[in-house]
Amino acid sequence: MKLLVIGSGGREHAIVRALKKSPKASEIHVLPGNGGIALDAICAGVRATDIGGVVDYAREHGIDFAVVTPDDPLCLGMVDALADAGIPAFGPDRRAAAIEGSKVFAKGLMKKYGIPTAAYEVFDEAGAALEYVRAKGAPVVVKADGLALGKGVVVARTVAEAEEAIRNAMVNRAFGESGARVVIEEYLEGPEVSVLSFTDGSTIVPMVPAMDHKRALDGDQGPNTGGMGAVAPNPYYTGEVAAECMEKIFMPTMRAMNAEGRPFRGCLYFGLMLTKDGPKVIEYNCRFGDPETQVVLPLLRTDLLDIMEAVAAGRLSEVRVEWLDKSACCVVLASGDYPGHYEKGLPISGLVDGQLPGGEAEVFHAGTKLLDDGTLVTDGGRVLGVTALGNSLHEAVHRAYDAAGRISFDNMHRREDIGARALAAPGQGRQACQ
Ligand code: AMP
Ligand code: GLY
Repeated sequence: MKLLVIGSGGREHAIVRALKKSPKASEIHVLPGNGGIALDAICAGVRATDIGGVVDYAREHGIDFAVVTPDDPLCLGMVDALADAGIPAFGPDRRAAAIEGSKVFAKGLMKKYGIPTAAYEVFDEAGAALEYVRAKGAPVVVKADGLALGKGVVVARTVAEAEEAIRNAMVNRAFGESGARVVIEEYLEGPEVSVLSFTDGSTIVPMVPAMDHKRALDGDQGPNTGGMGAVAPNPYYTGEVAAECMEKIFMPTMRAMNAEGRPFRGCLYFGLMLTKDGPKVIEYNCRFGDPETQVVLPLLRTDLLDIMEAVAAGRLSEVRVEWLDKSACCVVLASGDYPGHYEKGLPISGLVDGQLPGGEAEVFHAGTKLLDDGTLVTDGGRVLGVTALGNSLHEAVHRAYDAAGRISFDNMHRREDIGARALAAPGQGRQACQ
């Protein structure tokens, strides 16, 4: 089968490497991909948001099955356009992608169907929003309604911070039309868990639970980023919590989307907070998480293409999804000063054909470029993700850092405490390594 993957990050590289293991995958194309992905697949310079360009490319190259993962093309209707062209694809259609594309829609869905989430109010006028936070006090969370490259959420510790977030989104329009409306939400506390799931609208299969590390610096300090590393499984997500989530969150969300006439087929991501009052939804994503995918897919035993085809065809119940009984840790190597301004084009050392020569870990490329002479250089904020497996979380973390230590480029930045919070969880038998 000829496959097409849309996107250019570490997540897409992890998907490509998982699909490559399928005996059915004869050729994998990626639009636009990156320097490292180009060492594993055929990349071409069509933007992920260029719906017409992607459909034309898929037709010209006889693509049998497509995988659409970034939020923008999904919300723009890439899967609908591919379907119109007769090309089956993994990913939700435009109407189902609204579960991520509009926070107002997602919050309304949870309220209507009694799915546990933070209490909230919606505002389409800055004056009323400002008045509300002054009356309500802090901490409080301000979220732009639409997609904002992960920057639309501000956890405000003070009323002044909340006011600034409202002005930034609604008055200065820092995220364009995405900030025309904001959701102001109750502040929740507890361990966070990312549960990615496969669903075809009738069956929902949660994947191994993961933990992201969103802040730039150790100890969860510094600005929010796209994610500086991840571990799986997440030890805070016990069997008991999993059963409660299935009953109160996962099944009700799948049914709610069906009842709204927006059946969801693809990867539905639940960002959960395990509060003292039980698990609550912090956010839905209509796609695989990044960098969670880089720890979840290496633990998948079943053929990913079999699962994706079954999801797209509405026969997920026929597939048995199995996992390795191991742990995984991904350490992200970022450009210095990311998520602020950073330099590009710096040569990366330690890799041969984009991977570590010893094969002790997998390297997923996020922001890399391959020069004509074969040199691999940095080309983004997050440059690489290094994923290692282990028989315990402790072993996986140790191996990932060991492997990451063999890769370098000028001004490289990484967190030194990926996995520390997970290792400090009850039952892990270890103190945090900070
Ligand atoms: P999001 O972009 O929705 O994933 O939000 C980014 C991060 O903000 C989340 O991972 C949480 O750490 C934090 N966050 C979002 N909503 C809340 C909330 N209601 N209470 C506390 N923290 C939150
Ligand atoms: N890791 C969080 C996300 O993909 O949105």
